[in-house]
Parts: sequence; structure tokens; C-alpha cells
Amino acid sequence: MLFNGLKYHLRTFGCQMNQHDSERIAGMLEEQGAMLAASIEQADIVVYVTCCVRQAADMRLLGQVASLKGLPTPTGGKRLIAVGGCLAQRDGEKLVEQLPHIDIVFGTHNIAMLPELIKSALDTSQPQVSTLSDVQADEMVPATSLPARRENKWHAWLPIMTGCNNFCSYCIVPYVRGRERSRPFEEILREVEMLLADGVVEITLLGQNVNSYGRDLYGQPRFAEILKAVGESGVDRLRFVTSHPKDLSVETIAAFAQTKAVMPHLQLPVQSGSDNILAAMNRLYTADDYRGLVHLVRQASMDAGKGGKTYLGSVAFSTDIIVGFPGETESDFQATCDLVEEIGFSQVFSFIYSRREGTPAASLVDENTPEQIQERYQRLVKIVQKSAWEQNQLELGIPTPVLFEGISKRDQTMLTGRSPKNTTVHAKLPPDRSISDYIGKIHPVRIDTAKTWYLSGDLLD
Ligand code: 5AD
Ligand code: SF4
Repeated sequence: MLFNGLKYHLRTFGCQMNQHDSERIAGMLEEQGAMLAASIEQADIVVYVTCCVRQAADMRLLGQVASLKGLPTPTGGKRLIAVGGCLAQRDGEKLVEQLPHIDIVFGTHNIAMLPELIKSALDTSQPQVSTLSDVQADEMVPATSLPARRENKWHAWLPIMTGCNNFCSYCIVPYVRGRERSRPFEEILREVEMLLADGVVEITLLGQNVNSYGRDLYGQPRFAEILKAVGESGVDRLRFVTSHPKDLSVETIAAFAQTKAVMPHLQLPVQSGSDNILAAMNRLYTADDYRGLVHLVRQASMDAGKGGKTYLGSVAFSTDIIVGFPGETESDFQATCDLVEEIGFSQVFSFIYSRREGTPAASLVDENTPEQIQERYQRLVKIVQKSAWEQNQLELGIPTPVLFEGISKRDQTMLTGRSPKNTTVHAKLPPDRSISDYIGKIHPVRIDTAKTWYLSGDLLD
């Protein structure tokens, strides 16, 4: 045991892949005897898992790490600061030059090396920087096969692939996560069995572009097959992120619609409603292609009896949108607003374009002012709120199975969980029952209130 008696704290930024990496890091540190500290102040080792998709994440990380300088540990010793993830992969050595009190920098491909790096930093008091290139990554133990300390007993992130081959012109991910690497089919199914034996009821398959799962290993995508196989494994709920519209095949749509455990929610990033901007982004589909996909998914799901009884209610769609991509005109932006109104998304993650050095879009000039872009962003937010509210109204009166996750921060007698469509649902805890009767379990709730960002109602059992 390398770290007996030491306490660690983890801070995670960015996407679900980072959350999964953090669960593996926690697993490895605990395997070496370290214990979770409730706060940074109480920790001997602080690990940051970082994101560099947008500049805001860079700034937050640097600010947080800077504020740790000189902060003593409870025992008066030195606190070790380790920075990993996408920003660490991108900046490597530069991070230690910028903030000399960082002790360890590790990349996205060598998470397995973290315990050794911490040990060397403790032994030598010298900064340890180790990031590997995408090519070297093939030699490494993949993060997916490390022990995990899952945040919730009932839910597991399950990466089926890492990396991305798409090179959307604004995006840094292919440069910091490398090329697509799929995990063998059988290995994924073995992990599913282990997770089920461990009491997991909900699995989320992870990948930057899950729709192309298998292409690198088997010469053709096998996502539809993996969706069916995991969906029929006995798991109650199956989700997946993220789908690239250009690779969403008819086979995948059929597997999505027909596999009962696959939840009726599709996260399908559109990025823009304008064909000019989509082309400049290198997305390789048009707004009409996207409309066509949504139609197919809704129709196939309604035919299979998934989600709801109406065409519009059968599946909840969520999406990502970038506002202010270089060269975006008022009419391009209007096309995005029109598409959002037309599709009826239950949730939209909207981002202001952030220039990322090294990406093709970084050299594009933009004549829009930050004020214009901000104003567009606010306009989009209003449309998104209206759309989410409208979608939630479709759920009124319907008995909805809810997987409960915890209690409301504001009201200790209010349980919170998620509907199949991934909407937050609140329900009053019956006076004669305890929280543990519900957490991590699925119980039906009759929805009687539908707000913009949540539903609520009474428990039916
Ligand atoms: N600027 C703004 N948003 C971005 N995203 C990715 N790169 C950028 C960028 N440079 C958004 C996309 C993607 C989500 C994860 O982050 O919408 O789908
Ligand atoms: Fe980035 Fe595009 Fe790959 Fe998504 S599909 S990670 S947006 S390059």
C-alpha cells in the first residue's frame, strides 16, 4: 500500500468521460490505502481532472489551483497537487511553469501511472510531469480496466470507446483524447455482468461518438449490437452519450426503439441549425438531415411503444448548440432558433463559441461583437426554456417510473430522481417510509406538476 493513512480529494471538470476517469482514479488511490477527504482543506493529495473544451474551464481550473498555494494540510504537512485530464494533456510541462506549486501533471492516456507519479513526487519532492502521445497510448493500460470507486452504487459509467476521429473544426477533443479506440465487445459484456452482480440498475455507455463504436476493431460499426446486447443483459435502464448525427444508423435507431431497457431519451448534438455553419464546423450533415433523424427516431419509438403514446411524446431529445461560431450571421442564428422551436428539445446545452488554439476554426475571423453574441445567447435561452416547459407538459397525469437518487437540498422530505426521459422528478417521502426504501430504486410517480426544469407528483407505491 503506497498511501496508507493519506487522504485524497478529487475535483472533476467537464464531460462524463472525465467523471468516469475520476471514478477510476479514486479506485486506484483507495486500492493503495488512501481515503476520501470531505474537502480539499482536509486532503493530503488533491487531484484535478480537467477539461479544455472551452476557455471558461481553463480559467476556473487555474484559479482554483492558484488559490491552494500555501494552504496547510490538517497535519501541517505539504499538500500534493496533481493535475490530469484534457488540459494537462494539452499543456504538460507548461502547467508547472505557470503554477510552480503543482506537483504532478498526468495526461489522458496514462491515468494508470498516477500512483507511481504520486509516489515519486512524495519521495523526491520534485515535480513529476508525464503525458503520452496518442501513439504511445497503445502501450498503456487503458483507464477502462482500472478499479473503480463508483459515485453511486446503482449507476455506472461504462466507456465503450475513447477518442474521436471527427475533427469538428471548433473542437480540441481529438487532439487531447486521440483517435477512436473501441473496447472489445466481449470485454464490455463481461463488465456489464460484473456491474449487475454488484447491484447496478442503470448503465450509461460512454464515448465521444458512440455511433461509430467498433469501426476501428471490426471494420464496421457495431453500436446497434452493443445497445441490444447490453439492453438485454438484465439492466433496468440503459443510456448512452454521445451520438454524432452523421453516424446514427437505421440499425441503431431500431435497436434504440425496440430495446426496452434503453431509455426514451436521445442526446443528439446539432450544434447549429444553419447549413452554412454546419459545413464550416465540418459536421457532415444538414439541418434537414437532422430533422429527418428526429422524425425516424420518434416514429420508430412510437411504433415500438416506447416512451409515450404520442409522436411528440415518444422520445425526449436533448442537444448541444454553439452560439457565435465565426461568421455566424443573424439569419444563420435565426435558423438555429427555428430548429430548436421546431424539434421541441427537453434540454439544450448552449455554449458561446470559444476559440481553441490548434483547431481549424481558430484561424477564422469573426465580425460579430461579444455583445451581439451574448444577445443571441440570451435569445436562445428563452426559446430553450419555452421548449423544455412545453415538453414537460406532455408528462402531466402520467404514472412515471422514477429512479431515485437522493433528497432535495431545499426540503429534506422531498425525494429527487430521474424519469426515463432524464427529467428531474420530485416526490414527497411518505411519513412512514425511510429514504433508503427509495434511493437507487425505481418507483412510480403520478406527475401533477410540470415546470421548466422539473416534474413533481405523488408516489404510487
Ligand atoms: N466552443 C464552444 N463550445 C464547444 N464545444 C466543443 N468545442 C467548443 C468550442 N470550441 C461544445 C459542443 C460539444 C460540447 C461538448 O461542447 O457543443 O458538443
Ligand atoms: Fe469534438 Fe466533434 Fe469529436 Fe464531438 S464529434 S468530440 S464535437 S470533434
